[in-house]
Amino acid sequence: MSKKVLVISSSPRKGGNSDILCDEFIKGAKESGNTVEKLFIGDMKINYCTGCGACFNEGKACPQRDDMPDILNKMIDSDVIVMASPVYFYTISAQMKTLIDRTCSRYTEINGKDFYFIVTAADSSAENLERSVECFRGFTDCLVDATEKGVVYGAGAWQSGEIVGTPAMKEAYAFGKSV
Ligand SMILES: Cc1cc2nc3c(=O)[nH]c(=O)nc-3n(C[C@H](O)[C@H](O)[C@H](O)COP(=O)(O)O)c2cc1C
Repeated sequence: MSKKVLVISSSPRKGGNSDILCDEFIKGAKESGNTVEKLFIGDMKINYCTGCGACFNEGKACPQRDDMPDILNKMIDSDVIVMASPVYFYTISAQMKTLIDRTCSRYTEINGKDFYFIVTAADSSAENLERSVECFRGFTDCLVDATEKGVVYGAGAWQSGEIVGTPAMKEAYAFGKSV
């Protein structure tokens, strides 16, 4: 069955290591007949959550005017969400964290999704990337019926493009293919 796949690429480096792995995932997912959309959020306007409480105290829509309402609609509308980030100081990119925080007004509608996580780091030890993966899990643990389907550990890649030729490429492609 064809699924709607949303890939959220959060590195500020377009064509960087995590973005390359997103593309490998997409290649596999498209080959299997799925509908795929990629968001390169570095190109999008996503303001910080201000904690104003309009959503959680007053039940109102988020008052901010930026690209987040469109992103939320796409997240809610998808079957599969791929979240990709470089490891920055053993957490995730500020771009991805900002997006996660801004789901506050509608995260209860992001139900029943399958999730894949992609992380890339200079560090060559995959286990040291776990803290970044835990950042994603902190988000998906707050969702109803979220299923973690796979993690791509893109370890040992510092410079842009160094991920090419590593096992992470095949893993990303295989996860996409079997979505
Ligand atoms: C601000 C910053 C912080 C970083 N912090 C880490 C880190 O804590 N551990 C690590 O192994 N690599 C770290 N790196 C290296 C990146 O994770 C690595 O270059 C990764 O491949 C970037 O992925 P990208 O090409 O998708 O942006 C950091 C890079 C930057 C620019």
